[in-house]
Amino acid sequence: MQLGIDDLSFATADQYLDLADLAPSHGVEPAKYYVGLGQERMSVAAPDEDVVTLAAAAAQPIIADLDDAGRAAIRTVLLATESGIDQSKSAGVYVHRLLGLHAACRVVELKQACYSGTSALQMALALVTRNPEQKVLVICSDVARYDVGSSGEPTQGAGAVAMLISANPRLVQIEPLSGLHTTDVMDFWRPNYRTTAVVDGRLSLRAYTESLSGAWADLQAQGGPSFTDIDTFCYHQPFTKMAVKAHQHLTKVVGAPRDPEVLDAQIGDSLRYNKQIGNSYTASMYIGLISLLDHATEDLAGNRIGFFSYGSGSVGEFFTGLVVPGYRDHLRTAEHRRRVDERRRVDHDEYLRIVAPANPVDGGEHPIPVTSRSPFRLAAISGHQRVYVRSDEAAEAVA
Ligand code: COA
Repeated sequence: MQLGIDDLSFATADQYLDLADLAPSHGVEPAKYYVGLGQERMSVAAPDEDVVTLAAAAAQPIIADLDDAGRAAIRTVLLATESGIDQSKSAGVYVHRLLGLHAACRVVELKQACYSGTSALQMALALVTRNPEQKVLVICSDVARYDVGSSGEPTQGAGAVAMLISANPRLVQIEPLSGLHTTDVMDFWRPNYRTTAVVDGRLSLRAYTESLSGAWADLQAQGGPSFTDIDTFCYHQPFTKMAVKAHQHLTKVVGAPRDPEVLDAQIGDSLRYNKQIGNSYTASMYIGLISLLDHATEDLAGNRIGFFSYGSGSVGEFFTGLVVPGYRDHLRTAEHRRRVDERRRVDHDEYLRIVAPANPVDGGEHPIPVTSRSPFRLAAISGHQRVYVRSDEAAEAVA
């Protein structure tokens, strides 16, 4: 039985900052970000957007295409995030309601920095193995935030990916072997009392590549495919240059040729959306996968993709998947391009106004003005409750 990704969709925030508009505040040339980090723009989540609204917007097109039996087959929703909005209640429960899913469903949130989406994928595959009639909706959703003025600031972003995991998938069959690597390292974390991450940037780059080496060695020890058996690669992308560095590192480890044109053919298409969106933590590698499938000019049917998923702290996993023949008939390329291209540009002052306000903590009534054009909105924080609405119901909910 083949198992894997049957449908894929992403959403990003409705506004973006061009990194050329950020560069002067750091006293650097735009080329440092465009070339040095491989990032051109970053999505900026408005006050009425968060991991719930992004997750629902990512999954909505998938759910809309299912009939009632297809929706009922979704008996599990796994939401991976490191930008959680509650210490107790899963963000996935709000998403489950916004999507109109059946009550006969388990919903849970998973956390391990940028890695937890991959753990959700593996758990989903295990559930479908037990009952191939059921489907699992995996959603990775994050808003990447660092302090204003910090070196992490140009590596922010926001995005969510929804993946429908099933038997006989239409897009990518996930192969059973994985290489794993866990080690306790303080490269990036976010204590409960902070809204922005704390990061040791240099250490995080080293920890990432060491994790890649460890996970790759484990994949080989498990009898996984060799480097030359893999056609294209998708890496976790905190900024796209990191994926380039990671791939260069892997070619060095395995002693493969490092001709820039060959390297670009192996990873270039997976970087295109992320250059425009920025970091989306758990979602970033899967936006990379969508980018690869949406942009490849040749038919990738039968190609083996190597995935390296990394979450600081740290957990790394290297696994592989085979692209299913006919996958192109099931891509949502036009919708993805629209979501990236139709964002509104904000200038630096506007960006600072957007990221400044802290969430109210007094339990009062706090309506949130309509800013984004997302199909789902955070309409208010009222009596310590977050009030989520479909945008067409928003006026009614806050009236
Ligand atoms: N033109 C072109 N490239 C330039 C440049 C210019 N004018 N100025 C600098 N650069 C290059 C640097 O040479 C460097 O490239 P290299 O790493 O290939 O040598 C790159 O831009 C970044 O410059 P650097 O000075 O190292 O950046 P920084 O100290 O401001 O921080 C990060 C970079 C990634 C460490 C920082 O953004 C960060 O902490 N991000 C969050 C953590 C993260 O994403 N970690 C990843 C693992 S999960």
